Amino acid sequence: MSAADPQSATAGSPRIRPFAVADTEPVVALWRASGLVKPWNDPYRDIERKLTVQPELFLVAEASAAGAAARVVGTAMVGYDGHRGWVNYLAVDVSLRGGGLGRALMAEAERLLLERGCPKLNLQVRSTNTAVLEFYARLGYVPDEAVSLGKRLIPDSLDA
Ligand SMILES: CC(C)(COP(=O)(O)OP(=O)(O)OC[C@H]1O[C@@H](n2cnc3c(N)ncnc32)[C@H](O)[C@@H]1OP(=O)(O)O)[C@@H](O)C(=O)NCCC(=O)NCCS
Repeated sequence: MSAADPQSATAGSPRIRPFAVADTEPVVALWRASGLVKPWNDPYRDIERKLTVQPELFLVAEASAAGAAARVVGTAMVGYDGHRGWVNYLAVDVSLRGGGLGRALMAEAERLLLERGCPKLNLQVRSTNTAVLEFYARLGYVPDEAVSLGKRLIPDSLDA
């Protein structure tokens, strides 16, 4: 499969574009199927929050087949805080994995961040998801000499 074209819909190749509210259910379904939804992260609240901060950097990939409605097959939630760029919720539909779409979503994230003058992209991989480390290594990502710390400010659920 050819990699997604970020700018235009090429027949058979997913198109990468900003998220639209109508994408909410398919996006949450993709995240659930990809193992990215955890009890302490309400995906609907995560989407609502992202729509208030750099919504144009919340990317979806949609695939169109002749005669069928376009469907969401990938996501990347990108952000730039003025010092570092971040990518969360990177996911590709299981039926399209291994075809270059994950790489294309990350390339588009990097392009948009560079366009904004972002000097470095950071991302976090859950310790239970080490299988994905080889994917990031292929794209040039290396572990930082840093320990990731977090502090929850808004609990999303009683499990938080
Ligand atoms: C991670 C994910 C987005 C990768 O998407 P993808 O479309 O399958 O990735 P690509 O096809 O673009 O792969 C890019 C490169 O990484 C390699 N790669 C992808 N997944 C890999 C894996 N699990 N193990 C080893 N290599 C992998 C590919 O072989 C390819 O290598 P090459 O271009 O050098 O030949 C996808 O597997 C996914 O959605 N996983 C579940 C959600 C997840 O874990 N997200 C990351 C959260 S941190």
